Amino acid sequence: MLPLQHYSHMQQTFLQQFKAEPQLMSVAPGRINLIGEHTDYNDGFVLPGAIDKCVTFMLAENGEADLCRVYSVDMNESVEFSLQALSPMENGGWRNYILGVAAELQLAGASLRGFDATFKGDVPLGAGLSSSAALECALATGLNALFDLGFSQVELATVSQMAEHHYAGVKCGIMDQFASVMGKKDQVFRLDCRTLEYAHFPLDLQEYQLLLLDSCVEHSLAGTAYNERRNQCEVGVNVLKHFYPETLKLRDISPEQLNAYKTTLSEVVYRRCLHVVNENERVQRTCEALTAHELPLLGSLLYQSHDSLSKLYEVSCPELDFLVDYTRSIDWVLGARMMGGGFGGCTLNLILSSEKDRFVESISAAYLREYGIQLKAYAVSLEDGAHVKPIPA
Ligand code: GLA
Repeated sequence: MLPLQHYSHMQQTFLQQFKAEPQLMSVAPGRINLIGEHTDYNDGFVLPGAIDKCVTFMLAENGEADLCRVYSVDMNESVEFSLQALSPMENGGWRNYILGVAAELQLAGASLRGFDATFKGDVPLGAGLSSSAALECALATGLNALFDLGFSQVELATVSQMAEHHYAGVKCGIMDQFASVMGKKDQVFRLDCRTLEYAHFPLDLQEYQLLLLDSCVEHSLAGTAYNERRNQCEVGVNVLKHFYPETLKLRDISPEQLNAYKTTLSEVVYRRCLHVVNENERVQRTCEALTAHELPLLGSLLYQSHDSLSKLYEVSCPELDFLVDYTRSIDWVLGARMMGGGFGGCTLNLILSSEKDRFVESISAAYLREYGIQLKAYAVSLEDGAHVKPIPA
């Protein structure tokens, strides 16, 4: 959450930039994912929650038919565009998320008019906490309210996902945007990415807590590798369809079914598929572990997920493997894994709360020795998803 003084700073910036007062404020959070990685675009299951780090927008209509102006307070950069004939900008960075949301809302039937907006966020960038989904969902939520568009929360999530596909070029699943709009305080939720049915689970970790360790690395080919993984899953489905004609996505295949036709797939495609089908099952087992308060089992599922992402799906990197491996011999760390798309970003650790400071100190020192990088630790809490708020007086 942004400290209060940031709101008045945003408001003043709005006034300076646009010579008018903002009409409303919208907020959307980043997310964590307890388990279920690279399952969403395979129509599988995920277990995310929204966090206490958000992107906040202030918006107002500007009386123009189609001129829009958006200013990033953090970057001190702006973009001006017409609502007619939108297309992605080359090297547009954050601007493409803005253009994408405006374009996809209109494609979904929205009648937008000219608006001005400023935004600011505290979701760490490139940390795998979905700062881009927070940006998209905060703007979509703000425009939905400003123009009384009447989109449901789920529709705002899918519009935001399409902005990511068509304007950022990443063919992501629905998890990040869905978590950003549908999160609930102190809960994670199991989402069926095929039907979009979801069930909230209270996250009661007793004397344990979740701690994120940001490797502070971001490997540049992540977007390309992500789309490549998605294609490999589709290649697997196209082969498995011959044997199981009802198969639409890897969600429809069990580990036993996959293994029965292992030799019909290339070695790489088999490993990718094996990760997905096992990871889907791990989501179900994690939900059972949460319901039964079996934290050691939860921890061991986190390690299994990491090993599978690292060895079968190959979306980890040496820095993330180092951070996870470091915890394996520590009794009071029950589990750890890389989180999100991979190739950098954060690990998620289930640790005894009383040992947190000692843990951060020792793992930071070891990581600094190994890679010369100062990691960052975030103890996040789970919060409500995207919403509109009154501008503080
Ligand atoms: C990124 C994508 C999500 C999901 C995860 C991996 O965060 O945006 O849709 O695929 O990677 O689980």
